[in-house]
Amino acid sequence: MRIQALPTQLINQIAAGEVVERPASVVKELVENSFDAGASQINIEIEQGGLRQIKIRDNGCGIVKDDLALALSRHATSKIASLDDLEHVLSMGFRGEALPSISSVARLTLISRTAEADCAWQVSADGSDRHFEPQPDPHPPGTTVDVRDLFYNTPARRKFLKSEKTEFAHIEGLIQKLALSRFDVGFVLTHNQREMLNLKPAETQPLQEKRIAAICGTGFIDNAVRIDYAASGLQLHGWVGVPTFSRSQQDMQFFYVNERLIKDKLVAHAVKQAYQDVMYHGRHPVFVLYLRLDPALVDVNAHPTKLEVRFREGRMVHDFLFQALHRSLAAQRPGQAASFTGAELVFAQPDTDWGSELQQTALPLTSPAEAQPGSADSVYRRSADRSASAKITTSQINQYAKLYSKAEEIAVTPAPAIAIAQTAIPPLGFALAHIHSIYILAETTNGVILVDAHAAHERVTYERLKQHYQQGDIISQPLLLPIKIKVSAAEAELAEQEHEFFLKLGFELNRSGPETIILRATPALLVKTDVDQLLRDMLADMLTHGFSRKAEELSNEILRTMACHGSVRARRKLTVEEMNALLRDMEQTERIGQCNHGRPTWVALSHQDLDRFFMRGQ
Ligand SMILES: Nc1ncnc2c1ncn2[C@@H]1O[C@H](COP(=O)(O)OP(=O)(O)OP(=O)(O)O)[C@@H](O)[C@H]1O
Ligand SMILES: [Mg+2]
Repeated sequence: MRIQALPTQLINQIAAGEVVERPASVVKELVENSFDAGASQINIEIEQGGLRQIKIRDNGCGIVKDDLALALSRHATSKIASLDDLEHVLSMGFRGEALPSISSVARLTLISRTAEADCAWQVSADGSDRHFEPQPDPHPPGTTVDVRDLFYNTPARRKFLKSEKTEFAHIEGLIQKLALSRFDVGFVLTHNQREMLNLKPAETQPLQEKRIAAICGTGFIDNAVRIDYAASGLQLHGWVGVPTFSRSQQDMQFFYVNERLIKDKLVAHAVKQAYQDVMYHGRHPVFVLYLRLDPALVDVNAHPTKLEVRFREGRMVHDFLFQALHRSLAAQRPGQAASFTGAELVFAQPDTDWGSELQQTALPLTSPAEAQPGSADSVYRRSADRSASAKITTSQINQYAKLYSKAEEIAVTPAPAIAIAQTAIPPLGFALAHIHSIYILAETTNGVILVDAHAAHERVTYERLKQHYQQGDIISQPLLLPIKIKVSAAEAELAEQEHEFFLKLGFELNRSGPETIILRATPALLVKTDVDQLLRDMLADMLTHGFSRKAEELSNEILRTMACHGSVRARRKLTVEEMNALLRDMEQTERIGQCNHGRPTWVALSHQDLDRFFMRGQ
């Protein structure tokens, strides 16, 4: 066959293959055009999942009559004129392809009017060079694009479409995402003449949060932390869900770069890393985030649908995102943000596996007659304790130090005493009882909390170990009798090779035979724990994960294992002093909301929760 130039309509149909996958892709292109036209109101009418009709009307700048034909031609755009423009582009569109592509696979009519024009003009197109003469139309200033019978002339494509319902669901999801990108724009979405979404422009933060709640559910906004962070020319703001408000799917993650919704591996990785320490295995965080940066630093011309971008300084963007998120998550402590209380977030979360269970098991309290013996005593001790523990004393810390081991004589260097205002009740309140030797019940200013003592202690220990490790001062304590540990040859070799690494962790370890190592000193925190087993676990971890992984990631994992071994076990009754010391420590600990495996460490029942449950004052 000889070479021949393709007809225009076919060229456009080929281009449509990349951009127009389904009705939702048409909607995306048209709404983005309305954004670029400066519209403040966009109405989207859908018939039969968009298969029959997609009609989008805006109040933007409109198109002058003489440009209508150009708007429908390939490679004609008002948005860029040079390569330099492309490199700094901030508009959603720039390829000059969307309208001709759509018109080559559907029946497209364009009606538009500028503010200055006396009337609107209407044209139709079929993706070829042929354009129907513009006809006058009474349309107000702005633009309407009417797209009917998508894929009527490309049956192969039409076959891939799903049911009307599914296609509409895609459209609705898309409009939600677009609505989160532009709070200043109002949206109305109808399906088969029924109004499905009506969002007014939202200029203030409370209104924006209302829009987010309308789209992501109130649970999200109630359990989200507001972020606003800027460094080295990058700016990140938005809302991130606290770690316990996680989901089983990655379906509530919205990330915008200069107002453009994107999906990006680098971003996903940075977010995942930031949550790594606090997210329960297999769960996904929830966020709505906006990154702003110099458009010259991001290449949006990386993919026909513009859903992917390329950052010119990928490493920098990654580190910036990680830092911003990591810090905001670390900063979450009891008594700080109103949104951060274990209970509200657990109860409000329909998607977690914990919420409903907790509510059921936590609420049916025993009647006074059946109350645990000794509870009155605990209350008494609590009130005696209240004045004493307004300030954390060294003796308390030493009491608390016992938690770290089964024996009592362990000395831990006391953390600097944390002064709490004499009269103030600390955020996590004062301990009343250690229920079933598992949960600490404490009374707070506004209700009660339950703490999983092991989980909380594990986080406290872990954060403390991390801090000491980073500062290079994990305290090592020599053993009176060195311990001989049997390991595999590979593990023994690893222990020998990584002598320095273990030393930094507080272990003095030497190889003493092909399959034995000798332990001469251990971290003071772990001196009375089963270090033998711990070391075996650590070596096994290091072997399976390989030592090549980034030192910090690996050391964190090892510190996590250490923390787990070093933390108070369930079934040991804690004294009130110990419990209070733990509560005070929790208040000072970063990421305390979750244990090292991402499970919640505490849950609060507010006065209002209790009143609601007992139907008081209703
Ligand atoms: N709703 C609208 N209001 C005003 N002008 C519009 C509207 N839609 C399209 N246009 C004009 O028509 C031109 C062509 O639109 P089209 O979507 O095909 O290309 P583009 O937006 O420039 O680039 P891209 O292919 O990347 O979307 C635009 O450059 C713009 O000038
Ligand atoms: Mg466009």
